[in-house]
Amino acid sequence: MDGFVIKGGKPLKGDVYISGAKNAAVAIIPAALLINGWCRIENVPHIGDVEVLLNILTQLGAEIRYEENDTIYINSENINSWKAPYEMVKSLRASYYLLGALMGRFKKAEVSFPGGCDFGFRPIDQHIKGFEALGAEVEIEHGLVKVKADRHVGSQIYLDVVSVGATINLMLAASTAGGLTIIENSAKEPHIVDVANFLNAMGADIKGAGTDVIKIRGVRELTGGAVHSIIPDQIEAGTFMLATAATCGDVKVRNVIPKHMESLTAKLIEMKVDVQENGEWIRVRGTDRLARANIKTLPYPGFPTDLHPPAAVLLSMASGTSTMTEGVWDLRFQYVDELKRMGANIKLEGRIAVFDGIPRLSGAPVKAMDLRAGAALVIAGLVADGVTHVHNAKYIDRGYERLEQKLLNLGADIYRKDL
Ligand code: EPU
Repeated sequence: MDGFVIKGGKPLKGDVYISGAKNAAVAIIPAALLINGWCRIENVPHIGDVEVLLNILTQLGAEIRYEENDTIYINSENINSWKAPYEMVKSLRASYYLLGALMGRFKKAEVSFPGGCDFGFRPIDQHIKGFEALGAEVEIEHGLVKVKADRHVGSQIYLDVVSVGATINLMLAASTAGGLTIIENSAKEPHIVDVANFLNAMGADIKGAGTDVIKIRGVRELTGGAVHSIIPDQIEAGTFMLATAATCGDVKVRNVIPKHMESLTAKLIEMKVDVQENGEWIRVRGTDRLARANIKTLPYPGFPTDLHPPAAVLLSMASGTSTMTEGVWDLRFQYVDELKRMGANIKLEGRIAVFDGIPRLSGAPVKAMDLRAGAALVIAGLVADGVTHVHNAKYIDRGYERLEQKLLNLGADIYRKDL
């Protein structure tokens, strides 16, 4: 199976161009199912999850064309099925956006349950509560979530937990519901605004995305015919900023929205890393005297949980004792044992990891257990003494476009190999 071989110790230097946001793309592509016509989507990242989704849309009857390198054209006029069984979605971690999109299009949907992923079970109770509020009956049978809305009507929905997935799914399903839907306590991540902008460009009427109250006035159908460009990937940008800081490098991160990076930028500055920005790029210059820090992950605009593992590599090497408190996912700590194999001094106390910083990690064979833990191990390999073998590149490929190529361009010693 593919893995990465990394010889550590080379500071990253140069410019890196950030791809379109994975977590926007995996919502916007299913959203195209809602459109009785075509749309053109630009800045689509070349990653595993996108490939799988485009395949699913084709099987449902959509016509898909790559127009240029990162631009796709989707025509959903002839979608002929509201069913996405296990065989179709089994390699997709989050199949749930198909539910909201197909419900919005057909008032019914049958999608295989988004069950065990590399990251543990993902509850969808808030999605289901919202679909029911929009008039649907929801049944779970033989591993399928079945949604049927004879009366598809707007409603007021208060989310009990701030959920990115539920917020987006309800925007999808409510776009074509009769009347007004109000989602309260909604998530505010940049990709929620991006999905709302896409839907509005295709004829939806959504206001308030990016705040905790979103109002959706249902329209009869989305007719498409518009162009949308996906925002830059906040997490990919953050991963390169952290990799630069860890290797004591000097990198300009391009195609980035600095506002989306504020929580990370503030933390890096607190750790004595030099960060400068001008509307379009962020320049990071590392220090060999990383200061300790305490980080807590929270929904946006808090520190993103998806940057927790990559940031943990920095905490492992900062002087003194640092902590990382996880506020979103129980299973975020899958990198801890692997970083310990590289010499890190980490104690786990519930949802808090305590780091006693060491000057240098040492290369070792390690295994990516999920996407972001994998990114963390690559960063650890870049900075460690000697050679690191990161097994399970398949997890990393799900969400990072040509990671090793981009790192090679920055001067890293990394290559892909069957390990
Ligand atoms: N939750 C519930 N009930 C629900 C939905 C969520 O209890 O119905 C809980 C979850 O268990 C979790 C918290 O709410 O503790 C937040 O979950 P959320 O729904 O926000 O996460 P998600 O939509 O499933 C997306 C990203 C994740 C990212 C989270 C948080 C996608 C495909 N995935 O997941 O990304 O960590 O938001 O920002 O957009 C990644 O990219 O590596 C990744 C895991």
